[in-house]
Order: sequence, then C-alpha cells, then structure tokens
Amino acid sequence: MSQSGILTLFPCSVYHAPLFPSGAAARNRDLREEALRLSEVDEAGIEWSRKNYPGGYTSYGSMDRLHEFSSSFEALRKRLDTHVAKFVKHLELDVQPRDLQMRSCWVNVMPAQVVHTMHIHPLSVISGTYYVQTPAGAGSLKFEDPRLGFFMGSPPAKAKAKPQNQRFYNLKPKAGDVVLFESWMRHEVPPNQSHQDRISISFNYDWTER
Ligand code: NI
Repeated sequence: MSQSGILTLFPCSVYHAPLFPSGAAARNRDLREEALRLSEVDEAGIEWSRKNYPGGYTSYGSMDRLHEFSSSFEALRKRLDTHVAKFVKHLELDVQPRDLQMRSCWVNVMPAQVVHTMHIHPLSVISGTYYVQTPAGAGSLKFEDPRLGFFMGSPPAKAKAKPQNQRFYNLKPKAGDVVLFESWMRHEVPPNQSHQDRISISFNYDWTER
C-alpha cells in the first residue's frame, strides 16, 4: 500500500463453486436417493432429529462418517478435497493440504418450513455443504459478521452496502454447488418456503497434525 489508502484487514472468506465440472445431475439423483433412504431407515437418526432438528432429518447425530461407508460419498470427499485445498491456499493457512482431513459428513433433509438456527462447527477448521436439491424458495445460507457482538453504538450498514460491508449475507447456492467457510463462522438456514425438500450434505475438515 502507498502512503495513504484504506486497508482491508481480517476479512471473512466464503468459497462458492460448482463441485463437478459436469455430470452433477446424475450424481445428485443418486445422492438424493441415498439421503431419502437414510431418512426412512435410520431410526437412531430419526429419533435424534425429532429432538434436535424439528420437522427435518439429519444423520448428524447417528451416521456422521458417511464418506467411510458409501462409495458415492467417498467420491464426493475426493472431489471436495481439491476444493478445500484451493480454499486453504487462498486463506494462506500454514498447513499442508493432507493435514486437513474430512472427519465428518452427513445428510440433511429439510421439508417445508424447517429451519436450522445460527451455529458454528466447533473443533473443525473448514466446514461446508454440498447442495443436492434446492427448490426455489428453499432458503439461503445466511452468514453473520463475527464482530456483531462488538458493534454496540455502531450504525447499521446501508441496505445496498457491498457484501463485505453487510452485517449478514444470504448466499443462494443451487444444486451442484459447494460452499466452504471457516468453521468458526456463524451461519444458519432460514425456513424452507418451498413445498419440496431441501437436500444437502454437510461436512467438517479437521486438523490432524496437532
Ligand atoms: Ni452448519
């Protein structure tokens, strides 16, 4: 930077890209079928979801290592590895790509009106979601400025402020997209206002060299 100017410090980065160069529709048909089958037969998950994910189904509490048990999820992991490596390079984290490994991977089926409130993914480095089915109105992925609790007397940002100056940002991924973020970033899924299920696969990459 020259002598005068404005620095941008401590940005929050969110990675958003199509996961596969081609053939996403066929893969999504298979993944959708697997997700819906799990939502019917995974009794422990159905019970866990009843308490923790009202109206929806997630295998987070029952089967959260799907990449170790299903070839289609293992194929997904391999593809995700390359995107995570790109994101880590962008973030300039001082780790080798192999030091970050997918440790958990689970499916989410959100019918109409189901919501997933603000949360982080504790103990992980990179988290994200791959989108299998995203009907119109099914809800975005909403990120919160991590400094929000410090703002106190700070005025709100203008409604049309640039994304990097907003306090919240609604990302609207479509089927076939992957979204990655650092696991400490608070995010939520607003209510599904479509009549169809929103189906996604979420995952965490953990730091194994500690
Ligand atoms: Ni999440």
